[in-house]
Amino acid sequence: MDLTTNIGIWVALVVIWIAAAMVTTRRMTRDHPLSDRPHPPVVSGFCLLNPLRVLLTKGVKAMIHEQHRALGSVFTLSFFGVNMTFLVGPEVLDHFFQGPESEISHCNVFEFMVPILGKGVGFGADIATRTEQMRFHNDALKRPKIRNCIGAMLQEVEEYFAKWGQHGTVDLKHEMEQLVLLISSRCLLGKEIREKMLDEAHTLFRDLSGGMSLTSVLFPYAPTPTNRRRDAARAKLAKIFTEIVRSRRGRVQDQEEEEDVLQNLIDSKYKDGRPTTEAEVTGLVIMLLFGANNTTSVTSTWTGACLLRHDHGRWLAAAAEEQRDIAARRRGGGGIDHGALLEMDTLHRCVKEALRMHPVMPVFFRKVHRGFTLRTKDGAEYEIPGGHHLASPALFNHRLPCIYSDPDVYDPDRFGPQRQEDKVAGGGGRFAFTAFGGGRHSCVGEAYAYMQIKVIWSYLLRNFELELVSPFPDTDWSKLVPAPKGNVMVSYKRVAA
Ligand code: HEM
Repeated sequence: MDLTTNIGIWVALVVIWIAAAMVTTRRMTRDHPLSDRPHPPVVSGFCLLNPLRVLLTKGVKAMIHEQHRALGSVFTLSFFGVNMTFLVGPEVLDHFFQGPESEISHCNVFEFMVPILGKGVGFGADIATRTEQMRFHNDALKRPKIRNCIGAMLQEVEEYFAKWGQHGTVDLKHEMEQLVLLISSRCLLGKEIREKMLDEAHTLFRDLSGGMSLTSVLFPYAPTPTNRRRDAARAKLAKIFTEIVRSRRGRVQDQEEEEDVLQNLIDSKYKDGRPTTEAEVTGLVIMLLFGANNTTSVTSTWTGACLLRHDHGRWLAAAAEEQRDIAARRRGGGGIDHGALLEMDTLHRCVKEALRMHPVMPVFFRKVHRGFTLRTKDGAEYEIPGGHHLASPALFNHRLPCIYSDPDVYDPDRFGPQRQEDKVAGGGGRFAFTAFGGGRHSCVGEAYAYMQIKVIWSYLLRNFELELVSPFPDTDWSKLVPAPKGNVMVSYKRVAA
């Protein structure tokens, strides 16, 4: 692994360091110690040369491994006056994931999202408004509501794979991107977009995602061509959604209401009774699409690659057998519904294990606004001062041998009822598995994501024989969501129904 292969994580680190250095030089505030507990061990000045060398030559994981071994589970790298404190292992993550927003937050790391989502939505809104908007997302994606999406997901999946021939070879990564985009358009953006303006919407979303390129992340307001395209796309999307929201709100009483996620956001109300505005609905739905698409298609692809390659197809066979059992139990009616998806334990564990080994968010970042103390597994207590930045490396935590036996082996049974390695005492409890984050900002789309990935893979397992014909993919760290690198070529053969 070299410097270029770590670009995604580097971008995040550089953005935080630059933003933090600017703020630090503007406001050289002194932090008043909370207690007489020591600060974590610090690596600074010339001592930084070694971690930097390891970072450049061997990658982020190796750098964290060395510092962790030398300094323990909490340590600070101090560079140009900016302190980045690493929290390694689940037992030091309580405050990181659960502290109130006024004490610990994402800070301005996501400033580049403001022009994408619009002012007044998500990171462009004040804390109170943002908290209420998180509630809207949560409510819209609650299990009873998203059950309504299963029929639409199944239909999209069936129509998509009907276009495959009797046999052939495809790039699984490309297929998953296309299919997930169609499902998201239908279930998140609504029928109007899916049926009447799919191509236009996709082009606009592609221009909008230009706002996540390196230059836009670092300089979100610079008058670059990418930022101009992003702003033009944002304005057009706002117009489209404003019309849709107005038309849905203007429905006469006996007209049937849509039951999609968009409708739930339109019906959301703030605590004071104020309904969401058209601009807010636009921003909220864009936020969901950005949260949903890449993460889900990348995870579907990793799941496929893991199923088809690891342990000589053992897990593929186990997942396929589960599908046969479920189909047999439901013969004569029923088909794939919410109950059937809940019965797919093996498939669920296969997806979860793919996420453990290939988390879409390899490192979480936060900023400390108010100092706090924490205790490590070994009993050491530290004060983390206000002003520090925090990094929690999921890509490292998910491979800790004290939690996961043989952590580099793909073994979905580690999450089975007998082992539950992420839950057992000593395993670290709540934050041992953070593929969907945890606590206050945990992913609102987790249930929806599992549902969608299981709908896709249960269909593939029931209808095709599959084989991975390219090598197992490396990780492409140059993406904000690290994805399988290159094409993931899979050959398929349709099986008789
Ligand atoms: C396998 C698929 C997915 C993975 C692995 C995933 C992962 C994550 C993670 C790790 C976070 C927490 C970020 C943090 O703490 O900084 C997050 C947040 C979020 N996710 Fe997901 N996600 C997935 C699918 C989805 C889907 C399908 C949706 C929407 C339908 C969604 C919407 C969101 C939103 C809106 C947030 C922000 C929550 C907040 O800040 O309070 N995600 N996701």
